[in-house]
Amino acid sequence: MRIILVGPPGAGKGTQAARLIDTLNIPHISTGDMLRAAVKAGTTLGLEAQAFMTRGDLVPDEVVIGMIIERIAAPDCSKGFMLDGFPRTAPQAAALDEAMAAAGVTLDAVLLIEVPDSLIVERITGRRSDPETGAIYHLAFNPPPAEIADRVVQRKDDTEAACVARLSKYHSETAPIVPFYEAKGLLRRVDGVGSPDAVTARIADALKG
Ligand code: AP5
Repeated sequence: MRIILVGPPGAGKGTQAARLIDTLNIPHISTGDMLRAAVKAGTTLGLEAQAFMTRGDLVPDEVVIGMIIERIAAPDCSKGFMLDGFPRTAPQAAALDEAMAAAGVTLDAVLLIEVPDSLIVERITGRRSDPETGAIYHLAFNPPPAEIADRVVQRKDDTEAACVARLSKYHSETAPIVPFYEAKGLLRRVDGVGSPDAVTARIADALKG
């Protein structure tokens, strides 16, 4: 199965991907995670991406497109993949379409997780993650267990200012790709408000339909 997860920052894409990949048995490919790993490793790509990410801007298309096209050509993607955070612009959507057509494969669904802007800043500023396992928590909605509470970290771009910038980029650059997938009959809208379990159940229903 080839799936794309789209949604504003903090919609729950990473949270839901972690729950879905085991049952779907496909790799979870998050551009945000790949870019953060490159920043941590100090690679050329990471150094180029870092400033854009910290201020909540999008990393240039040419950097991200090459990275993802190479990744989905890897052997572990032969039976499918779940893209999280890509595509995020019209040129990225066009490049993915072209690469998949050239490989003779097609998308099964584009899941749009919808959460109103009014809930996003609280979700983002309260997020913490476990650097050892990658698990995502929230200080209020899903607190980390006491035994790991000392080691959870906050992302550099999870400040209120960067969150507002990311939300603005989502509306100006990413939301316009939604009609592109709607016209292809691939779009499934999922209400992202409610418990993570409720959202997972809605996604499972959307993938059946
Ligand atoms: P990326 O890492 O992709 O960030 P994002 O899209 O802004 O999404 P987030 O990771 O912030 O949120 P999420 O939807 O995964 O939510 P989560 O599950 O964590 O990208 C980061 C940066 O990299 C970008 O700003 C850009 O610079 C660059 N980049 C990445 N891809 C790019 C691309 N294609 N092109 C150019 N640049 C790119 O949940 C958030 C919080 O809410 C957590 O605390 C969680 O516990 C909580 N939560 C989750 N679900 C619920 C629920 N149902 N109820 C209550 N709380 C919940």
